[in-house]
Amino acid sequence: SDFDAASVQSFAIDLAKRAGKVILDGSSKRFADQATGQQSSAADDLIKKNTADLVTEVDQATEEFVKAEIKRQYPSHKFIGEESWAAGQQNQLEDAPSWIVDPIDGTTNFVTGFPFVAISIGITYKSKAVIGVVYAPFLDTLFYAREGGGAFVESPQHRQARKLPLNQPLPLPSLKQAVVAVEWGSDRKLSTIDKKTKFFASLCGDADQGVEGGQMVRGVRSIGSAALSCCFVAEGSLDLWHEIGCWIWDVCAGIVILQEAGGLVVGAKQDTLDKIKANSKELGTATPEILQGRKYLVVRNT
Ligand code: IPD
Repeated sequence: SDFDAASVQSFAIDLAKRAGKVILDGSSKRFADQATGQQSSAADDLIKKNTADLVTEVDQATEEFVKAEIKRQYPSHKFIGEESWAAGQQNQLEDAPSWIVDPIDGTTNFVTGFPFVAISIGITYKSKAVIGVVYAPFLDTLFYAREGGGAFVESPQHRQARKLPLNQPLPLPSLKQAVVAVEWGSDRKLSTIDKKTKFFASLCGDADQGVEGGQMVRGVRSIGSAALSCCFVAEGSLDLWHEIGCWIWDVCAGIVILQEAGGLVVGAKQDTLDKIKANSKELGTATPEILQGRKYLVVRNT
């Protein structure tokens, strides 16, 4: 095959770090412009579907940069990017190596300066997610994985690459020890919010205090980046993450990293919580349907 996963991965890692520089420079410039009154904070950002769904000129510039670099290095590879898709491009998976890119995952965080922001680069081959690189420039933290090659983190805390998961032993004795991340996303339909609040209530509520099925998990977090949420579960700093309505570029890279660290991902149904409680291996792996489906996603360490 003409697909050399190891060299594609090292190119992707280098590219993610260079894109991180574009993001950092873009952020510094935005804050400088705001201080001198040249930009009125989020007012100049484009609102996509609603006021909770933003894109900035830095998202677009970062995607253009990454797309051009990939085209130069791998002219035959396909490219699926959040902003190219928004501009009308296809996002069907194909057999050819395809780069699935979210230039800034956590755009709202980027706008406000909350540091959980990442460039997410996933690569599929024969429609399967095989390489994942997630780089958080404000945290100088890099996660990467390749199918069959393990998942790793490099950060100020771990200068030498460390294999994931860091936190052992697993599985947790019960959900009472779990720290769980939940995301609200930008879909604010009552039916979606209802499903999410019910699921969260069952996780954090106390059955003894009247919450039906309450698991009373140890902590609940909201990071604001789907890619980093996957990576933190892979690492073991979170135990589970739940969201409805993600896009393939939000999760493609994170899922490879998670799966290489032994985690699971699933399109959640009614009985998902029961399977999680039973620590069921049936949760399975990311099928192309789950990657494309934008259904519930639940990930956890096993
Ligand atoms: C979003 C973030 C957010 C998640 C949304 C994503 P974006 O990506 O990952 O945490 O809740 O579902 O779309 O818009 O910042 O690239």
